Amino acid sequence: MSALLELRGLSKAFGPFIALSDVSLKVLAGQVHAVMGENGAGKSTLIKALSGLHAPSSGEILFDGRPVRFDSPTQATDLGIRTVFQELHIAPHMSVAENITLGSTPTVAGLIDRRRMRDEARAVLSRLGVDLDVDARAGRLSRSEQQLIEIARSLIGEARLLILDEPTASLGESESRRLLDIVRRLAGEGVGVIYVSHRMHEVLDIADVVTVLRDGVHVATHTAPVGADALVEAMIGRPAGQLYAHTPGATGPAVLEVANLSAVGVHDASLVVHAGEVVGIAGLIGSGKSELARTLAGLQPARSGTVLIGGKPCGARTISGMLKAGLMYYPSDRRREGLVLRRPLYESVTLGALGSAGLTRFGLIDRRAERRRAEELTERLALRPADVTRHALLYSGGNQQKALIARGLLRQAVVHVFDEPTVGIDVGAKADVYAQIDSTARGGAGVVVVSSDLTELIGISDRVYVVAEGRIRGELRGDEITEQAIAERFF
Ligand SMILES: Nc1ncnc2c1ncn2[C@@H]1O[C@H](COP(=O)(O)OP(=O)(O)OP(=O)(O)O)[C@@H](O)[C@H]1O
Ligand SMILES: [Mg+2]
Repeated sequence: MSALLELRGLSKAFGPFIALSDVSLKVLAGQVHAVMGENGAGKSTLIKALSGLHAPSSGEILFDGRPVRFDSPTQATDLGIRTVFQELHIAPHMSVAENITLGSTPTVAGLIDRRRMRDEARAVLSRLGVDLDVDARAGRLSRSEQQLIEIARSLIGEARLLILDEPTASLGESESRRLLDIVRRLAGEGVGVIYVSHRMHEVLDIADVVTVLRDGVHVATHTAPVGADALVEAMIGRPAGQLYAHTPGATGPAVLEVANLSAVGVHDASLVVHAGEVVGIAGLIGSGKSELARTLAGLQPARSGTVLIGGKPCGARTISGMLKAGLMYYPSDRRREGLVLRRPLYESVTLGALGSAGLTRFGLIDRRAERRRAEELTERLALRPADVTRHALLYSGGNQQKALIARGLLRQAVVHVFDEPTVGIDVGAKADVYAQIDSTARGGAGVVVVSSDLTELIGISDRVYVVAEGRIRGELRGDEITEQAIAERFF
């Protein structure tokens, strides 16, 4: 069978930096072709070249056997190439329906056909099994809801090649499963699919073929069935090691005490975290687990309740007030809440930690010390490229996430609160992040990890709270922490 899409020797350089080097691959109609690789391996660059966002430096793209050149994304769209990019492209002031139909807005007599627009949006959302108000302003929605909008947009109209770059990164189990079902169905109808994900079980579940990139180079293409170990080895260039780090140890006094906390999405939550402890927070999307973390961080106001850090009531419940009180928060959305994109990355890493980390001399910022500290931490988290003077914007998604984690770890916080710490992070770096979380707890801090990944929570937590409908529904410790026990408390 001739290929729907074929890449021949595709390369892409950014100045002297070669992000993609001589990559060739084929995607057949009706086939799910997964692309895996470490953070910075070149996956998103490949996708952007296929979607008309980056012009390749050399090489050829053939679609339906004919060479194509995209000078703009619309040319790719016209051929039936639909892409969900890793970064969200949501117009915050527009409604859900407007966002979903963006680029294919139905019109009647030259005017927007609002009724059809809303009907189309509703239809595609219901295919995804998502209950979203199509008139809601997109900017007010959570990251996972915005991600669903992006996915919905790609399903409008006739796709011939569907490209998904980490589409489930901020989705929970049930939404992810639903998306995989749709992908499978579309492939069954003859659509070719390129699927980028760091979630191994998804790839093993859905892919017919898996291509692995490393440092911009094509290292392997496997046909299913393929084992996880072989893929990890191809990705990181050595056999897979231990993924989860968890050293149970003695715990100290309570460092975070929350009593009867209520806020938008949070009802009467009480919990405690001790020094030396990793406490997981499990819950489905919309359960309120992220809202709980955001309220603790001072990002959304509490209606009532008390929060003690290190036994002391905290003053102003703003993000900086909470930081001063000793609570460091790690957002799941690196772009919205995290990095200064158009400055050297190390500045983002040391941001806010200057005073506490001994990086000032005579009241001035000691730039050399600042850079050195940032470099140390980024090395521990295997940041790539390791040159921290590059602008944050130029790093791959997973590497931006690692930089945010490095920034938090630089702070001598009493409590660290992570919201989905390993979303979009490759397997090798995940192990580094878990090791850092473990050693932060063993160093005497309290750690809270909010996560949709149950295996992760089971792997690293001393205790787990389960959240459903904004309430804490249960607490599990040690051997009680099983997937079944957690899931039972979801409903
Ligand atoms: N516009 C750009 N200018 C300079 N370098 C870039 C640019 N875009 C990407 N890069 C670099 O190209 C490399 C590949 O990035 P890419 O985003 O393709 O990685 P990725 O495999 O998608 O990683 P992740 O899993 O973290 O999303 C990275 O080292 C990145 O820093
Ligand atoms: Mg990427």
